[in-house]
Amino acid sequence: MSDFVVIILAAGKGTRMKSILPKVLHRAGGKPMVKHVLDAAKLAGARRSIIVVGFGAEEVQAAVQGEAEIVRQEEQLGTGHAVRMAEPLLSKEPGTVMVLCGDTPLLTAGLLKNLYESHREARAKATVLTAILPDATGYGRVIRSEDGSVEKIVEHKDATEAEREVREVNSGIYCFEREELFSALTEVGCDNAQGEYYLPDVLTILRARGEKIWAIAAENYQETLGVNSRVQLAGVERILRQRKNKALMESGVTLMDPANTFIDADVTIGRDTVIYPFTWIEGASSVGEGCVLGPSSRFSDIRIGNGVTAQFVYAHECEIGDGVTMGPYVHLRPGTKIAAGVRIGNFVEVKNSNIGEGSKLPHLQYIGDCDMGAGVNMGCGTITVNYDGRKKYRTVIGNDAFVGCNSNLVAPVTIGDGAYIAAGSTITREVPSGNLGVARARQKNIPDWEDKRK
Ligand code: UD1
Ligand code: MG
Repeated sequence: MSDFVVIILAAGKGTRMKSILPKVLHRAGGKPMVKHVLDAAKLAGARRSIIVVGFGAEEVQAAVQGEAEIVRQEEQLGTGHAVRMAEPLLSKEPGTVMVLCGDTPLLTAGLLKNLYESHREARAKATVLTAILPDATGYGRVIRSEDGSVEKIVEHKDATEAEREVREVNSGIYCFEREELFSALTEVGCDNAQGEYYLPDVLTILRARGEKIWAIAAENYQETLGVNSRVQLAGVERILRQRKNKALMESGVTLMDPANTFIDADVTIGRDTVIYPFTWIEGASSVGEGCVLGPSSRFSDIRIGNGVTAQFVYAHECEIGDGVTMGPYVHLRPGTKIAAGVRIGNFVEVKNSNIGEGSKLPHLQYIGDCDMGAGVNMGCGTITVNYDGRKKYRTVIGNDAFVGCNSNLVAPVTIGDGAYIAAGSTITREVPSGNLGVARARQKNIPDWEDKRK
């Protein structure tokens, strides 16, 4: 059983990102990088999570609200200094402290568990996770002495030409015993190329004290990749997408073209759902079984039931029941609930509305702020007139109503169960159940018109 507390460093500005957004809030796989790190730590068994914030503190804090304890590092004086900020919160914690960086979103719970177990087994005071990289540029290099033990970690900017040849790097992921960590940190100086207090210096200090320090190399270096630039962010993004797609396919989802299918980390999809290319499923979304989604669709924060078909659809913050058919060219806006068996297609927009079971909105509708019953038929071109320029009003349509083509329903207005609306009507008053509402000028034919014109 894992039993450790985690400190996640997330105070840095991320200068190389050239952004006003704090680096750790840049999204990869649809979620802020720091959230990936936090989620992995929790999954690996962290009993407490502390995030060190600084640059953009309020924003970072808001992004992890309620999920972690927060400490501030007012001035970003280096990773060693950042860890010290957490000391007051941990004065009573026994055992192991894991330190992670908020900019390594590819790490997995499995990797962290291995590190923890290896640290415990070795009975080390500090264990660093290393990685062998094809290109180690920018990373701290792991310098080993002749017996293979870790002598020190040298930052890229401080390294000699020979040291820069080393491809084993510090992943920025460590386990420490709490007491030794904080006592060594008081000795870390800032006499280096960046004038910063470097956390990896703790290893050298502990080694000099004769304590056991340990290192394990990650089997898959990808999991340790850190993001310092937009180019690296794009690389990580691609890997996260591939990982998610692979997991989905392994769980029974068909992706017609995984390279062109974009599914966020926390999305769930039921088996035998088929996804066509250029489809995005984002945020906190869930999709049921046996659906056919896409091509060219975007779903954000939605719940989709089983057996739903959707092509060329953009739907966000809504719920879609079983067996619904949508598209092509549908926009479902926030607050919309579509009941089972509804058919929506061909240039239809629905906003903040409830659509009852089996109703049909087949072509050219705008439905806003509407409570529609079951079995309703909306003729082509029917719209709710929900806005008078100041306020929005609701339209209520009873079960089995039949609304003729090109009608305007001027809200607030109620159409009763089984009522009919004549095509081309502009309805401003209630149409009671079973009535036919006609609100248009009667047709008049003028005889012999062509002769008169001559
Ligand atoms: C760091 C390591 C380097 C390692 C690399 C792995 C140090 C000195 N170097 O370098 O050995 O190879 O990570 O990715 O530790 N941060 C703070 N406060 C600060 C400075 C940084 O919270 O004062 C946070 C940053 O927000 C970031 C993390 O610490 O999440 C790492 O900082 P970064 O500047 O990216 O360090 P690297 O140069 O990548
Ligand atoms: Mg970094």
